[in-house]
Parts: sequence; structure tokens; C-alpha cells
Amino acid sequence: MLLQIPDVFTPDELARCRSLVESAEWADGNITAGTQSAKAKNNRQLPEDGEAARAARTLVLDALSRSALFFTAALPRKIYPPLFNRYGGEANAFGNHIDNAVRTHAASGTHVRTDLSATLFLAGPDEYDGGELVIEDTFGTQSVKLPAGHMILYPSSSVHRVEPVTRGVRIASFFWIQSMVREDERRRMLFDLDMAILALREKHGDTAESVRLTGCYHNLMRMWADT
Ligand code: NI
Repeated sequence: MLLQIPDVFTPDELARCRSLVESAEWADGNITAGTQSAKAKNNRQLPEDGEAARAARTLVLDALSRSALFFTAALPRKIYPPLFNRYGGEANAFGNHIDNAVRTHAASGTHVRTDLSATLFLAGPDEYDGGELVIEDTFGTQSVKLPAGHMILYPSSSVHRVEPVTRGVRIASFFWIQSMVREDERRRMLFDLDMAILALREKHGDTAESVRLTGCYHNLMRMWADT
């Protein structure tokens, strides 16, 4: 499932996050790449342990914790501490690759199985040319370029790339999520069911039927969720 989550950041949070990352010292993006993706990767990244990355990461995690849409779509069990990347100038693209299945967070030694990948756009589409996130999956090839503050969530099993940035600078936060529900199809079904129940309750209030359906949702979660 490919899902846009609009307005993850308020305009104020976006401005704070941008000023943090823009004034920081960027490093070679290959600091977190696997051996295959290192050959395709040509961008800049904020070192994970830097002061700016730490403060900006907290802003992202706080924003995520408020997002009901993110929660119901991802059903997060673990979130890899958000990272930040920059595409522009000489370091402007990331060719086709698949994200590593397991990311180990060096500082804590925590392993995160990458069920979902997320990109939170920090620069607006008018600020740069190119830089589309292109995702190839069973749903076809999708080209994604969102307003600043919006986020895209996609299966980490997808081949994806970032097209060369030919003007301006594209900055974004990116991270991975280990979901309580490992399978994309099951997560999708739970999401659709949750959204349908929400719509029914808005239309008709709580009814005996919506209570039953809510029970089905939770019973499916009980069957499928790992906590
Ligand atoms: Ni990737």
C-alpha cells in the first residue's frame, strides 16, 4: 500500500525542522547504505549522532505520535530514529535499490525489520527540479513529489529511486517502520476496515453493526499483531 499522509508537520514545526537541518554539517550519504545501495547512492545525510539531527528527529517523532492516520496505516511497533537527507549539486540522486531488510541502530543496538519506508518532504516541489521518489511495485510505477510537511508511506519491499535533482535542493526526513502486522496485505485490510468503520460512525453514529465491525477489527488485530 502506498499512502500519502498530509500535514504531518505544522508550518511552524516545518520551519523549525528546516532551520535545524539547514544549518547542520552534511556528510556523505553512504554512511547508512548497504553494499548494493552504496553503488547507487549519491546524496548527503546528517550524521545520526549530531546535535541538529537529534533535535530534528524529536520533532519528527512528536509529529508522528499525533498522527492517527500514520498509526492506523503503519501500526508501528518500532520506528528507526528518523534520518535526514539532501539532494542537490553534485550529490543529487539515488538509483534503483531495495532497502535493507533489517536496520540496526548503532547507538542502541536495536534491530528494526523494515516493513514500511517513509519519506517526509521538508522542501516544497517549487524549490527544486527532479528529485521525484519513484516506487516500483505491484501497483505499477509511482512518481512521488509532495508538498513540504507531507509524508509518503510505502512497502520497504519495493524497488525505488530518487531521480536526479537538476535545480535547487531537496531535503527530506526518511525512516523505516517495523509494523505490528508484518504482511502488507493484512495491514491493508485492517486499514480499509478501520477507515470504513470510521466513515460509518461519522454517518450513522454508533450502531449495533458498527460495534460488531469494530469487534472484527480488534479480533483480526489479535490474530495478526505482534507486540
Ligand atoms: Ni531506499
